[in-house]
Amino acid sequence: MTNPPGFSALSLRLSDEPDPAWEVHALAVQRRAAGEDIIMLSIGEPDSPPPAAVLTEIAASIERGRTRYSAARGETVVVDAICRYASQQAGREIRPEHVNFFPGAQTALFGMLMTIVGPGDGLIVPEPYYAPYTQVLGATGVEVAEIPLRPANAFHPSLDDLRAAITPRTRAMVITNPHNPTGAVLTRSELMGIAAICRDHDMWLVADEVYSEFVYAGTFTSVLALEGFEDRTIALGTLSKSYAMTGFRHGWAISPPEAGARAGVLLEAMLFGCVQFIQDAGAVALSDGGAFPRAEREKYLRRLDLVMAALSGSAAISPRRPEAGMFVMIDVRPTGLDADAFARRLLAEERVAVLPTHTFGPSGAGHVRISLGMDDEALAEAARRIRRFADALTGPSAT
Ligand SMILES: Cc1ncc(COP(=O)(O)O)c(C=O)c1O
Repeated sequence: MTNPPGFSALSLRLSDEPDPAWEVHALAVQRRAAGEDIIMLSIGEPDSPPPAAVLTEIAASIERGRTRYSAARGETVVVDAICRYASQQAGREIRPEHVNFFPGAQTALFGMLMTIVGPGDGLIVPEPYYAPYTQVLGATGVEVAEIPLRPANAFHPSLDDLRAAITPRTRAMVITNPHNPTGAVLTRSELMGIAAICRDHDMWLVADEVYSEFVYAGTFTSVLALEGFEDRTIALGTLSKSYAMTGFRHGWAISPPEAGARAGVLLEAMLFGCVQFIQDAGAVALSDGGAFPRAEREKYLRRLDLVMAALSGSAAISPRRPEAGMFVMIDVRPTGLDADAFARRLLAEERVAVLPTHTFGPSGAGHVRISLGMDDEALAEAARRIRRFADALTGPSAT
């Protein structure tokens, strides 16, 4: 055996160690596989099946022979459906030249970043952030500057922090709006402030908007709706959450036409088109006038109320009511445990899996994240266990 000839700089920038963000989740998966009754609140996967019409269309589309090579930037039927959907969010006409179909929003982020930045460029991202960004940003080779989303500011960014992080090399900012894990929704004026700074420094503004359908407080504004910034804003969307279609790998990027064309070339080189029957099914999903996401939102809101009621009033923990999304952050600092120890002991002692969010970024310290993608009964039981565990920690025996 000899050593292999070596690997690319891009490959070597990616860590091949397990991501610490998922450690507690991985432990929980192992224990559940070994037969333990664990309530899994550690992952953001919708519990609903996809819309019935989507499943019907998959079969019908295959019957129609939609199993061939396809258009690199997306099949017309789905690109048109995405245009209609995104035009509503943008309040302006989104046309096919703005759209690229990607197999999921994460791939869309990857593809668009590969298109607009590279080694030697700087990129700003608020932390904490969705853990897989680390590898996506790492792949591009950009120099990442993180700015804090402080709990004291309800996890909203500060424009001063943003200005202070900019260097002559900074080319882009990536935001998650609504945010995972914090559930913060940026106001139009916050977004305008960010966009103006991006314009002043000639930067792209990329927004991951995968939770835009699940807003409970305030109003969602897409970066596409920021007048005067159309030439630098890129929005990423998906059916993973809104239509409970995670496994379909169905997402998109909306960008200025020039960026769309360049990303299209990358798509052609890398994927040579995506699955036709998945795209047909996505077009069917998007034609429901928003009925499915509205019902999902109602469901998550009901669960959010349930969790807030069950966890509020404890001296040991305080749940933070999110403005949007599928998660609730719980501040566990009063227990005296750090979030990692809290999550590990909660798993061991009460068999509930949650994620400590310091691994999403230092400003997530002292908090754990729970997912609302679990049926009401199990969620209520999990909340009871979390409360029991936390309250016992701050009782006399815990000190
Ligand atoms: C912020 C954020 N972006 C992207 C994704 C992945 O989306 P997709 O399934 O469309 O790749 C997730 C999934 O949890 C997410 O939370």
